[in-house]
Amino acid sequence: MLFTTLLLAGTASASCLHGVYKRAEAEAEGPFQSTFGYEGTFGPANWAGLAPENSACSLGSKQSPINLDSAVTLATEKPVLDIPEQNSKFLNLNTTIEVEVNGTTTFGGNQFRLAQYHIHTPSEHRIAGEYHPLEVHMVHTGVADESQIVVLALLFEMSVNTSDPVIAGITPHLSAITTPGAETEIEGGIDFAGVVAKVAESNIMQYTGSLTTPPCSEGVTFLIVESPLSINVADYNAIKKIVKFNSRLTQNVLDSDNILAVGSRSIEMAKAAVAAGANSTAEEAAPAEGEAPAASAEAAGPASGSTITVSELLGTPLATPLLGVVPKA
Ligand SMILES: *[C@@H]1O[C@H](CO)[C@@H](O)[C@H](O)[C@H]1NC(C)=O
Ligand SMILES: *[C@@H]1O[C@H](CO)[C@@H](O)[C@H](O)[C@H]1NC(C)=O
Ligand SMILES: *[C@@H]1O[C@H](CO)[C@@H](O)[C@H](O)[C@H]1NC(C)=O
Ligand SMILES: *[C@@H]1O[C@H](CO)[C@@H](O)[C@H](O)[C@H]1NC(C)=O
Repeated sequence: MLFTTLLLAGTASASCLHGVYKRAEAEAEGPFQSTFGYEGTFGPANWAGLAPENSACSLGSKQSPINLDSAVTLATEKPVLDIPEQNSKFLNLNTTIEVEVNGTTTFGGNQFRLAQYHIHTPSEHRIAGEYHPLEVHMVHTGVADESQIVVLALLFEMSVNTSDPVIAGITPHLSAITTPGAETEIEGGIDFAGVVAKVAESNIMQYTGSLTTPPCSEGVTFLIVESPLSINVADYNAIKKIVKFNSRLTQNVLDSDNILAVGSRSIEMAKAAVAAGANSTAEEAAPAEGEAPAASAEAAGPASGSTITVSELLGTPLATPLLGVVPKA
């Protein structure tokens, strides 16, 4: 019962758009303070522990980002972007840098309002196991239904050429927003012509996942532009000086248990194995009189006599995993 309630609280419709308007969230109370991070107890493994509304981060089974393999489907139509020329705010949110920009994107017969785009390094989504150096998320909310969220994701690859303008347009302004909470104005805004052209030429992968930051609300439509845009080395280095590592760990296959739930079960299994190993050792190596008892629960490895599977030897994957029994000392 409680489980269901918590899950519902994590869906997009119930979350009051937390995570979409990131600045509003960070500034809600007093001076700027980010509410999550990418390290230690503020990091992705503990996001659900930071606030009750973040439960989907640990319990959701359609979480983003994912590895995009051949199972992911292509969008049957292209999103159509309409972004008028405008001055744009550029902000340092500590967890990312963000450009506020208004526009309208039409997709699947519905209109979505572009609110902002922000940056992740390295990329959050992976394609066939590999990641890109940078990923841009263009975040939209439904015009008719604000709880509908569409994220157009752009991937970048290193290039000797100039960066696409969504990158080249922000790098001259980075020096004005080096501290968390700082903001500046980009006069004339950002040129999206390169993005529009890339959307037209590239495959667009589509799936329903979640926000990749707390509260990890689900029901988010991801449209990932498969073919990457360019970023040059100077721009990449300038961005990296401000945007530190900010990529959520790759989530489990869609509709499978949350990877943190899987990890938590694996901890319980490891504890049980250690406990069982300690008991069996104590019984089998029944101490002869005067002898000290052998291995204890502190020994993290498999107990002697237990069955183990070896899938890799000296860094070389084995075609067929070996099944073995740990020799008794
Ligand atoms: C910025 O992020 C760091 C790392 O998560 C954190 O320690 C610090 O408090 C944050 N600063 C602000 C102003 O939010
Ligand atoms: C973008 O839209 C918001 C909300 O409607 C508005 O407050 C803001 O002034 C707009 N920004 C620009 C640059 O038009
Ligand atoms: C870089 O520019 C050259 C010359 O204009 C062009 O041939 C090449 O395709 C460009 N490479 C990328 C990755 O855009
Ligand atoms: C191991 O022994 C301890 C102490 O007797 C006991 O509490 C625990 O349940 C045993 N564990 C297993 C897996 O049998």
